[in-house]
Amino acid sequence: MTELLGNSILEICYIIASITFILGLKMLSSPDKARKGNLYAAYGMGLAVVATILFKEELSGDKTLNYVLIFGGLLVGTIFGNLMAKKVKMTAMPQMVSFFNGMGGACAAVISIVEFDHLRQTGNFETGMTIVILLGLIIGSVSFSGSIIAYGKLEGKIKDKALPAGQVINLLLLAAILGIAIFMASAGIPDPLYLYVLLVLSLLYGVLLVMPIGGADMPVVISLLNSFTGMAAAFGGFLYDNQAMLTGGILVGSAGTILTVLMCKAMNRSLTNVIIGSFGKNGATAGREGEHGGSIKEISASDAAILLAYATRVCVVPGYGLAVAQAQHTVHNLEKILEGKGVEFTYAVHPVAGRMPGHMNVLLAEADVPYPKLVEMEDANEQMASTDVVLVIGANDVVNPAAENDPSSPIYGMPIIKVLDAKNVIVMKRSMGTGYAGIENELFFHDKNRMLFGDAKDSLEKLIAEVKDL
Ligand code: TAP
Repeated sequence: MTELLGNSILEICYIIASITFILGLKMLSSPDKARKGNLYAAYGMGLAVVATILFKEELSGDKTLNYVLIFGGLLVGTIFGNLMAKKVKMTAMPQMVSFFNGMGGACAAVISIVEFDHLRQTGNFETGMTIVILLGLIIGSVSFSGSIIAYGKLEGKIKDKALPAGQVINLLLLAAILGIAIFMASAGIPDPLYLYVLLVLSLLYGVLLVMPIGGADMPVVISLLNSFTGMAAAFGGFLYDNQAMLTGGILVGSAGTILTVLMCKAMNRSLTNVIIGSFGKNGATAGREGEHGGSIKEISASDAAILLAYATRVCVVPGYGLAVAQAQHTVHNLEKILEGKGVEFTYAVHPVAGRMPGHMNVLLAEADVPYPKLVEMEDANEQMASTDVVLVIGANDVVNPAAENDPSSPIYGMPIIKVLDAKNVIVMKRSMGTGYAGIENELFFHDKNRMLFGDAKDSLEKLIAEVKDL
């Protein structure tokens, strides 16, 4: 095959891959098309990888290329990724996303290390290229170590921990990283020692950035790390003059950045504070048992069913516990039965409910809940006063009034779903246990609220049986 033909095929494959990335991303914005969108983008990426190996000019002429190693690596990665994705429980999805995101960051960092060595061999330390390599190394390493810490936290293996004067240390570290990188790029330093110091400091920064972030603030940092990985991959695209890698990296980087801004808005936090790893309170967010002293009031499934069946408007606030209980299909059944009795039924979705962006949307889409029934937080809050019954199913932090009225609370300032504006509130959970932020919820002690204890799926099944009997 001529070189020209090989190049043309490669270009076409990259264009096809870029189109699948854009289409895939667009389709991810609607739950019913998200699965297909994900597959399109994955096939596009597969095409770009294979086309690069087969048609990239520099590679096709390289006699030292070890195809066994390359395809062996691809095979191991594919099997490993496939098994992980197939076996993962819906509730452990955020951890897996964090882990995979970390792997992307690690790849970008390794690319930079390898390419730095190439530059050393050629002796061509052109400033632009050196900057791209160093940025890929820094951002990729921060993303890798930060994502692994985030993975450990979501898995419950790592506790929030802030160093004394952590903010100052983070700022000093950042200054040292930038200082060394600028020095290396401007002086054309070929000494790998500097590169490895930069690698270690960046890994450390990633750890220290994520370690103190606790309470309800993890969503912001997870989407920030996501955008870091995208940016690091885009630098790889510059480095190799690879359009597919560049497009993919830019799409992930910009989508992650937009998500970070949206998450910040949802959590009422500033981005500057995220970057210096200082926002939210630290590990001292653990529960303040019995602080409200009041007594909780329980409700039986049959009384709850009466309230629901004779309501005009019912609103469900889904939370992480709904995913744990895998009760999405059961709540959809309750919705259909109540609608059959003339009840208006909606779902109020908080932007950080669950453990990953869009968690509740994906969960409810899995049970074929019609998308228009999902109401965003702001609109749901406006409708609250005219709602007869709010069913809080496995949600806790996102309905905690402390976010509005307790300045000492680690979630203070986070917008919540204002369930207390409704006429009746029923909270469905297993115990008085805390949510992700580890704090007590005064809602449970409020006069308007009744607790329906039990696994969400079991309780919903009981409710359905009672409603059917009415
Ligand atoms: P949480 O505040 O975490 O509360 C979940 C509640 O579900 C728990 O209190 C638990 O109480 C209950 N639960 C667990 N298993 C259950 C089951 N089988 N049946 C019934 N209830 C069950 O959830 P949320 O309100 O969705 O808030 C999300 C939190 O996670 C926020 O703090 C958010 O910042 C954080 N976070 C979010 C993300 C994203 S991007 N969404 C990422 C990381 C962290 P019991 O144990 O008593 O049942």
